Amino acid sequence: MGRGDVMNAAPSMLRISSATSMTVDIDATRTEALESLHSADDASGLEDWRINWLGTKGRLKSMMGAMKDLDPSDRPAFGQGMNALKATLEESFAERKSAIDSVPQGPGIDVTEPGLPVGLGRQHIISRTVADILDVFGRMGFTPVTGPEVEDEWHNFTALNVPEAHPAREPVDNFYLAAGGMLRSQTSTVQIRVLEETPPPVRIVAAGRVYRPDTHDATHFSMFHQVEGLLVDRDVTMVDLKSSLLGFAHAYFGPEAEVRMRPSFFPFTEPSAEVDMKMKIKDSWQWVELGGCGMVDPNVLTAVGLDPEEWTGFAFGLGVERIAMRKYGIADIRWLYENDARFLRQF
Ligand code: DAH
Repeated sequence: MGRGDVMNAAPSMLRISSATSMTVDIDATRTEALESLHSADDASGLEDWRINWLGTKGRLKSMMGAMKDLDPSDRPAFGQGMNALKATLEESFAERKSAIDSVPQGPGIDVTEPGLPVGLGRQHIISRTVADILDVFGRMGFTPVTGPEVEDEWHNFTALNVPEAHPAREPVDNFYLAAGGMLRSQTSTVQIRVLEETPPPVRIVAAGRVYRPDTHDATHFSMFHQVEGLLVDRDVTMVDLKSSLLGFAHAYFGPEAEVRMRPSFFPFTEPSAEVDMKMKIKDSWQWVELGGCGMVDPNVLTAVGLDPEEWTGFAFGLGVERIAMRKYGIADIRWLYENDARFLRQF
């Protein structure tokens, strides 16, 4: 390659071949340098790059060394090109450095410092109680299901054999919604939802929130949880009901627990009973009223299109807060819903 190549080249494309047989391509060098600069993504990568390109023994320095091999008349153009390249690289380096420096690096790590405790959350005691109860009934063959909290009066009352004029429907006792419908006041709604969809035999358990405009005090809250059970099959008797409740009591409260049923009234069961369970509270066994139960009223079966001559069933509804409060010695229901972690993390 002759010197004519050098003469005709643009300043950034000087080729030096006579003595060194080295080719200096300033544009290609710039491209290569900038590409490698942008792949440096931390302080040490950046410093390596600086040493490699701009350092005293770096690539630019050694390219400058080729100057002496050039024809003197070519040197100014080459020098200009190299100066421009150096300025570009220094400027790009400064930009890249400030970009990397502005990424928060966090404090330096002192490996001798004691570790910070990991703030693990935990299940709310009501969620855990619900899960434990569903687990017991699940093992007894009851499938867990859910239903909506915003309901219509058909599912909350009518289909459950609660007549139009029944006091339980009073607006002062329910959250009716301006848009129509209501917040469900009981999980018995799920009995209807399931029976409308599923041909018997059915064996379900439904846990969830219910809403009543009660004045808040130690035992009342406008939202609380119930667990509803429903079994519909042929030839179901109260013995099945009581043995299911007893099976639950034994599994949940211990083998010495007992179940007592006291005659009562619910529109959707006939006969109906209040359910008490004898459980160990601190060191003594006590009867605690936990909810209601009974044999599914024929009118409920009819409402969902089942023949009460063919199908029979039992149902029960238990208050989750009641169970948890007695089991864990919680004196005030409001404490459960204040979101005070100091209280909640005890359980
Ligand atoms: N839904 C009733 C209530 O909220 C509880 C209940 C009673 C549920 C008897 C039942 C039942 O399934 O059979 O007071």
